[in-house]
Amino acid sequence: MEIKFQDRPPERVKTALLAFPVREKRLDDPALRRLDRLLGGGLAERIKKSQFTGAEAAALSYGTAGKIGAATVLLIGLGKSEEVNADSWRKAGARARKEAAALGAEEFVFFFAPEKDAETAAEAVAEGALLASYQFNKYRSDSKPRAEVRAMTLIGPGAARRSSLKRAVKLATDTVPGVFAARDLVNEPPSVATARFLGEAARRLCRGRGLSVEVWNKKKIQAMSLNGLLAVNRGSTEEPRFIVIRYRPPTRAKKKIALIGKGITFDSGGLSLKTGKGMETMKLDMAGGAAIIGAMSRLPELAPAVEVTGYIPTTDNLPSGSAQKPGDIIRYLNGKTIEVLNTDAEGRLILADGLALAAKEKPNYMINLATLTGACMVALGTEVAGLFSNDQRLADALLRASKEAGEKLWQLPLVKEYREDIKSSVADMKNIGGSYGGAITAALILQEFVDGVPWAHLDIAGPAFAEKEMLLSTKGGTGYGVRTLIRFLSGLSN
Ligand code: BES
Ligand code: MN
Ligand code: ZN
Repeated sequence: MEIKFQDRPPERVKTALLAFPVREKRLDDPALRRLDRLLGGGLAERIKKSQFTGAEAAALSYGTAGKIGAATVLLIGLGKSEEVNADSWRKAGARARKEAAALGAEEFVFFFAPEKDAETAAEAVAEGALLASYQFNKYRSDSKPRAEVRAMTLIGPGAARRSSLKRAVKLATDTVPGVFAARDLVNEPPSVATARFLGEAARRLCRGRGLSVEVWNKKKIQAMSLNGLLAVNRGSTEEPRFIVIRYRPPTRAKKKIALIGKGITFDSGGLSLKTGKGMETMKLDMAGGAAIIGAMSRLPELAPAVEVTGYIPTTDNLPSGSAQKPGDIIRYLNGKTIEVLNTDAEGRLILADGLALAAKEKPNYMINLATLTGACMVALGTEVAGLFSNDQRLADALLRASKEAGEKLWQLPLVKEYREDIKSSVADMKNIGGSYGGAITAALILQEFVDGVPWAHLDIAGPAFAEKEMLLSTKGGTGYGVRTLIRFLSGLSN
């Protein structure tokens, strides 16, 4: 979808749809009154008869009967004036794009006159409109090709600022393909998206200036003593892979970042088998790895002045005669041992390899993303990821990036007293805690492998996968984390 700017009165523009954002209970806004006058008072009449108040992401459409250039006016709520933020604009852009698609329009116009932060708002509108266009139809036989919405024009005063607005929109257009790549990888069926497939996908997606990809096979994984990954893989007929993606900036790197992503391509639980219901969405379990592939695939475009290495251990987690058993002990490359009491707590087993390996390179920061625990979903629901960190500056930077990106993130504590819960009678630790605080005990296990490096863990079990259609995403993979990572990495380089 092309995104354009024009500085013209909105009523003059010939278009199928004119999206007109309004603040809640501010329906006396001068621009809206002017539009209503041009429509002979019909719009005000329509508003009065409706329930529309301008609540966030609410919409009201009105046919203009040719009184202005637009065939339909769509009022879009931004929510309460004092609460309007980037996310309100993001949702407005998405709503407009969806209504345009529903009308079969090939283009639409968005009246753009924010009171402040025009660049932030422009970027958010563009990002919302782009994100809302995602579809995953390759396995549908009846998907009749709908008319594509090909263009969005932001109309409003401020042509003078066009270059800064264009730059802001470019961040959105540079980011969204990474989000879609991550969504595609998650949405692919688990018997297609195997470890090998994920390695090939990383190779295909992470090309361009400064990027290189290595995909380690089982032999190399054995040689590298990535024993957590080998243990989880034992139940499978598919070979594991360990993906290493490197990005080197064109200019001198200001920092060195390691990103570690959980790449469980299907989580049956292993011998500690999940229920049938519990497995329905378990193709999502490589969403952390997919987010890293998606984000890193955009780095040549964004060119942040930081060195980034992505580490993605990947396998499925299946039961079989050769599967790892409760009671087994894994010895890691840093010498530590984990007693496996529940084979369904497998994410931490493979992430421990990634963290231990990454820590050897002494990066400035290590960040891991993982659909790690159901407990985190119990705590924070389906829209908010949990953040754990041993470094508050890093945590704050990630919280800021996630807020700007519109991906909800909330910090949870690393409660050192709970280390009691992961004590093993035979090894350094066991892979499960007690009955409570499961997101925290999982994080404490990961922390044992970071070797003092400033580190953050994002438990994305909730927001990685939408169980219902959302404004910014279809049902399925959401690409959660890509936008936050890109913001975070871009913020480090300036
Ligand atoms: N992949 C799951 C976590 C998960 C659950 C993600 C639901 C998304 C939706 C993880 O491997 C897992 O099974 N965790 C267990 C840990 C337990 C056995 C300590 C869990 O959360 O139940
Ligand atoms: Mn599991
Ligand atoms: Zn899992």
